[in-house]
Amino acid sequence: MGSIDTPKNPENGSRTLPPATDAYATYDGDKNGIDGMPTRATEMTLPVESEAIKKRRASMLPLEVGTRVLCRWRDCKYHPVKVIERRKMPFGGSNEYEYYVHYTEFNRRLDEWVKLEQLDLDSVETVVDEKVEDKVTSLKMTRHQKRKIDETHVEGHEELDAASLREHEEFTKVKNIATIELGRYEIETWYFSPFPPEYNDCLRLYFCEFCLNFMKRKEQLQRHMKKCDLKHPPGDEIYRSGTLSMFEVDGKKNKVYGQNLCYLAKLFLDHKTLYYDVDLFLFYILCECDDRGCHMVGYFSKEKHSEESYNLACILTLPPYQRKGYGKFLIAFSYELSKKESKVGTPERPLSDLGLLSYRGYWTRVLLDILKRHKGNISIKELSDMTAIKAEDILTTLQTLELIQYRKGQHVICADPKVLDRHLKAAGRGGLEVDVSKLIWTPYKEQG
Ligand code: ACO
Ligand code: ZN
Repeated sequence: MGSIDTPKNPENGSRTLPPATDAYATYDGDKNGIDGMPTRATEMTLPVESEAIKKRRASMLPLEVGTRVLCRWRDCKYHPVKVIERRKMPFGGSNEYEYYVHYTEFNRRLDEWVKLEQLDLDSVETVVDEKVEDKVTSLKMTRHQKRKIDETHVEGHEELDAASLREHEEFTKVKNIATIELGRYEIETWYFSPFPPEYNDCLRLYFCEFCLNFMKRKEQLQRHMKKCDLKHPPGDEIYRSGTLSMFEVDGKKNKVYGQNLCYLAKLFLDHKTLYYDVDLFLFYILCECDDRGCHMVGYFSKEKHSEESYNLACILTLPPYQRKGYGKFLIAFSYELSKKESKVGTPERPLSDLGLLSYRGYWTRVLLDILKRHKGNISIKELSDMTAIKAEDILTTLQTLELIQYRKGQHVICADPKVLDRHLKAAGRGGLEVDVSKLIWTPYKEQG
C-alpha cells in the first residue's frame, strides 16, 4: 500500500503544469483583466502580452491570505493550495514574501512555508470570503469537538461560539516548532502545539528522551543529560517481551512528565486537546530497550474513568518508528487492558486519517479471524464479549466490508471463507503481537 502522504495521482483533482517559464509562453493573461482565466496566445501578440502578464502578476503580489493557487510540491508536480499566512523574507524586497500553504487535497501535516517561485500565478483564483467559510466549518463541528477546543483555550465556557472557534483556528494555523531532537532522531513536526510562551521564538526544541523535559539549546540538553538519572519512563513497567517494554505512568503522580508528553504528542496530533489536567489520565509508554535505556517509540493515553467507554484517548507512534507495526501493537494492548477490566472499549473520537486506517485494519483482522475459525452462528454481542471491541465498531466494520445484512429485524453476518480471506488479505499484516502472558497489570483503582 502506498503512503497516504504521497500524492501519487495527479489526475485526482490536481493537474500537472509545465514549469513556470514554459507557461509564460503558452498562457496569456486576459488583456481586459475580466476574470484572469488563461487563454492560448498567438505568436504574433506574445511580446506585447508578456508585458501585460508581467504587469498582471505584479499587481497580484503579495498574494492575499485565502488565495487559492497551484503550488509545486516536493514531487515536482503542481497541487492546489490555499494560502494560510504570509511573511516577509528577512532580506527581500517589497514583494518578497514567503507563503504558508495548505495542500487542499491532503492532510494539514503537509502544510509548509513555500517561496513565490513554487507558485503558479496563472492559476490564482479569486479570494474566498473567509468569514463565510469559517462559519460553515464551525457548523460542521460536533458538540464533542467544540467541548474539546473549549477545554484547551477557553476554559470556563460551556460552548464554543464561532468567534472562539475562529480564534482557535487562527491560533493553531501555522506550525510553531519545525523540528525536534529526541534521542537519536531529529524529527520534522506535523502540527502546532501550544508550548509555553517563552518557546514562541524557537523553531527547534531539544527533548530529553527519558523525562521528556524540553530545552531551547543543544548545550542545555547536553548538560541535562549528564544530570538526568532516568533511563526509562517514570512509573511501572507492566509488560516486557524481548526488547519491548510498556510503562504505565499515572498523570497524577508524574504531572510534569504527563504534560511534557502532551506537548510533544500534540506536534503530531491535529484534532486533539492538550489536556493540562493530566491527573485524570494514565499514559502507556511503549519502549524499545537496549543497554543505553528504554527509548520511547510511541504511547497511548487512557482516562482513568470514562463515561463514554473510551479505552484510549490519544495514540501516537513517533514518526521514525511508524509503519513498523507499533500502532497495531498499541491498539491491541488497549483492548487487552479492556479485557482485563471486563469492559468493552472504543477509541475517543474524532479519529485522524491515520488513526482510522489503523483501527479499521485492526478491527477487520481481529473480527475476521474469529469468523473464519468459528463454526455456526455468532452474534455481534458474542464478538464484542470475545474481543472487547464495542458493538457499534463491530457493526460499522462489518457493514463497511459488506459482510452484514439486516433480515427480519436481525443482523446476519456473512461468513463465506473466500470473502473473508479476500478481506483479510487486504487488511494487511497483523503487526507485533501482544503476548498477554507477559502483561502484569491490575485495573486502576483510586487510592486513599
Ligand atoms: N499511509 C498509508 N497507510 C498507513 C499509514 C500511511 N502513512 N500509516 C499507517 N497506515 C495504515 C496501514 O494499513 C498500516 O498497516 P501496514 O503498514 O501493515 O500497511 C496500519 O495503518 C498501521 O500500521 P502500524 O505500523 O501498526 O501503525 P503506526 O505505528 O504507523 O501507527 C498511528 C499508526 C498511531 C495512527 C500513527 O500513524 C500516528 O502516530 N499518527 C499520528 C497521530 C495520529 O494520527 N494518531 C491517531 C489519532 S486518533 C486518536 O488518537 C484516538
Ligand atoms: Zn531527563
